Amino acid sequence: MRLPPNHVAIRVIQEDHDRLSAVIHGMQYFARAIGKGGNASDPKVFRAMLLYISDYPEKVHHPKEDLFLFARLRSRTGEVNAAIDELEAQHASGEALVHELEHALTRYEFEGEAAAKPFLDLVERYAKFYFDHMRLEEEVILPAANQYLEAEDWELLDHEFALEKDPLTGTDYKAGFEKLFSLIVNIAPAPIGLGPAIPD
Ligand SMILES: [Fe+2]
Ligand SMILES: [Fe+2]
Repeated sequence: MRLPPNHVAIRVIQEDHDRLSAVIHGMQYFARAIGKGGNASDPKVFRAMLLYISDYPEKVHHPKEDLFLFARLRSRTGEVNAAIDELEAQHASGEALVHELEHALTRYEFEGEAAAKPFLDLVERYAKFYFDHMRLEEEVILPAANQYLEAEDWELLDHEFALEKDPLTGTDYKAGFEKLFSLIVNIAPAPIGLGPAIPD
């Protein structure tokens, strides 16, 4: 069960997770079509999904969780330290997994059929990894944040999570990611996106 989004930071985290879930479901759909030997859509779709994951969650969402949400929570309670340790370790290994996926996709593009199964297995492993990760955050960390964080913590978190520009360069990253996300939705085949369905 999801928390009511009673703080800006919680709303942003939940929205990010929804988008990420949509992209990961899209990756599974793409890889399963390949695994079944069907006609998969253009690998460009999958590459756009990987780009989204490596640029948004890896560079924006996870660092904000580490630096603000987890750090503040640790300073207020020791109750969820084990969960935070696990989530931080997962953040640290996420980027390597994205590279593995990219590698497996390239291998499939060159070797075809023979590399389809390892690619599919990796996508399924990645999807499980990510869905478990987001569930732990939503079921353990966010309720704990609601319970233990204080007004000044929420002030900082709401401010940081609402930022839509890179504080160092001033670049509006939010607009760029929105564009990439709608590109994925437009080129991904139905029922995931709005593109033409993959023929059986
Ligand atoms: Fe996370
Ligand atoms: Fe998250």
